[in-house]
Amino acid sequence: MATGHTTHDDEALDRELAGLLSVERFDPPAEFRASATLNDPSVYAEADRDWQGWWASQAEKLHWFKKWDQVLDDSNPPFYKWFVGGKLNISYNCVDRHVEAGNGGRVAYHWHGEEGDERDITYADLHRDVQRFANALKDLGIKKGDVVGIYIGMIPEVAVAMLACARIGAVHNVVFGGFSAESVRERMEFSEAKALITVDGAARKGKIAAVKESVDAVMGDLPHLEHIIVVKAKGTECQMKDGRDVWFHEIMERAAPECPAEEMDAEDPLFVLYTSGSTAKPKGILHTTGGYLTGASATHRLVFDVKPESDVYWCCADVGWITGHSYIVYGPLSNGVTSVMWEGAPDYPHKGIWWELVERYKATIFYTAPTAIRACIKWGSEHPGKFDLSSLRLLGTVGEPINPKAWLWYHKVIGGGRCPIVDTWWQTETGAIMITPLPGITSTKPGSATQPFPGISVDVVDEREGKPIDEGQGLLVIKRPWPSMLRTLYKDDDRFVEVYWKKFGKETYLVGDAARRDKDGYYWVIGRIDDVVNVSGHRLSTAEVESAIVACESVAEAAVIGQHDEDTGQAITAFVTLQGDRQGTPEEEDLIRAGVAERIGKFARPKRIIFADDLPKTRSGKIMRRLLRDIAEGRALGDVTTLRDPTVMAALEEKIKAEHAAED
Ligand code: PRX
Repeated sequence: MATGHTTHDDEALDRELAGLLSVERFDPPAEFRASATLNDPSVYAEADRDWQGWWASQAEKLHWFKKWDQVLDDSNPPFYKWFVGGKLNISYNCVDRHVEAGNGGRVAYHWHGEEGDERDITYADLHRDVQRFANALKDLGIKKGDVVGIYIGMIPEVAVAMLACARIGAVHNVVFGGFSAESVRERMEFSEAKALITVDGAARKGKIAAVKESVDAVMGDLPHLEHIIVVKAKGTECQMKDGRDVWFHEIMERAAPECPAEEMDAEDPLFVLYTSGSTAKPKGILHTTGGYLTGASATHRLVFDVKPESDVYWCCADVGWITGHSYIVYGPLSNGVTSVMWEGAPDYPHKGIWWELVERYKATIFYTAPTAIRACIKWGSEHPGKFDLSSLRLLGTVGEPINPKAWLWYHKVIGGGRCPIVDTWWQTETGAIMITPLPGITSTKPGSATQPFPGISVDVVDEREGKPIDEGQGLLVIKRPWPSMLRTLYKDDDRFVEVYWKKFGKETYLVGDAARRDKDGYYWVIGRIDDVVNVSGHRLSTAEVESAIVACESVAEAAVIGQHDEDTGQAITAFVTLQGDRQGTPEEEDLIRAGVAERIGKFARPKRIIFADDLPKTRSGKIMRRLLRDIAEGRALGDVTTLRDPTVMAALEEKIKAEHAAED
């Protein structure tokens, strides 16, 4: 039975959604509220009264080999330590615990491949594979504290690899499959990874990408990288370098079956995950063991109101982003939940594949990014309309602000008007969800992430003095430490302090987003205040893209800005000057895009390229991106008198006018 809409009533749907735009709040449905784990608003006040006690009560839900002596050590801010003295193992919490409780037969992942192949991986399967792979890593000489890169994509082995690292105390460094091999090399180099786990090939909308081959082409001889472990995922041909490369299945066969989980200190590193900041060099966000798992597990359990016995949860992110770490792997597995894991894109083999899988696995909870919702709106509601989505009871979004129209479409077409939506605000740095509705308590307002999770304290402050702002826009800050906070930037404590804790002191975390708080105390996150661009929920630094463009032959200089984009939230616009006195051609545009794809990944390619004779610079040579933003968006130009050469702007204006004329 299909419950959605058909093409001919898309117009009626539009009218209905327009009508809903005036609804200010959506209360949790009574039925949802009645069965929700949290449905009493007093939890907020309770958590506030004793926030350390609240977090300790969440940590108690995990298995500890030894309980902590101190909940929080805040003697050396901003280097906070949580659950000091506690001993635990994350893979034990995510796997063994459920098997020991008699739930080994429960499916951990319903994996679905691009071509329709399926694998159900139970908790017992994970238990077997994780132990063997942990031993295989040990056999290769990987030890506690060694960094292991993972560049695999969305196949179950990615979870096995992450958990096996956690089991022996190796620090994983997962790279999103959409990043280029060049980016992988860079991340392996920065983190001094000792091993890299990758695949022979990966599915890309009906084609197979030769992943190992492209890794080989750039990896060269990294001094620290001793092993490349290759999962035979697609049977793609590849060279195996003697003494360095091994097949995953072969080392698994040779490994001993039992590997007791290592007792890890609560503050032992769990993973490093590179993300974009204001400079071209990505930041290695470091998360540790006890606090991270406490945050990921508690937020997953309470924000998604999970019932491990009956829910089928699906987070459509990629495991290579923080969302995948916390809400595909560690959150759901620590809670013993059954998840769907989908290998591919939302539009292959057809534009209704997500909804087909919701019907097939009777998914109850669905978590995705606003950009994907906007793509689905564009494709038309007839695609979800073909499938039975009545199993869904809760929806979530993450990664960027959601526009109210997309929220309402999600609510109506996917949620059938009956599912609460949790708009979750957080970051790679925060490790876990920070601002979010609690679905059995919070009345939601489309476009607002609503309120801080219990125990979290945030504020909106003015840029100069850091004083709270009651009305209007300011900078979002976090005022108390929280368990899943990043501990540092990998091997770069100074940059950690500089980026997050310098502006308002060592006890106030600078988020990097602008936000406002409304009269009801609801938070509305507006977007980044730094040179970070959010394209389809993917975080990119303008400096990173600039450096990839400048590395292209014939480019002299580049300046990159983020522009509002209907589909992807933001899109990249690049101003480029070429070497010699030349104007760019469409072929040169293609070369630049290809260069960016090669150096970073396809998702970082500029949508718009504007060739310029010169860029607006201050007398000290700094490019004035503010002026570029104004000009790209057709706004009146502000003060240009501080420019070294004010005529540059007039020339650029001409250029943009000509571009618009050509479009018309
Ligand atoms: O600007 C905010 C935006 O994404 C940034 C964090 O990006 P990243 O570390 O890649 O993590 C994304 C997934 C957690 C934030 O600084 N952002 C994330 N979620 C939201 C959001 N903006 C508005 N609303 C959200 N729900």
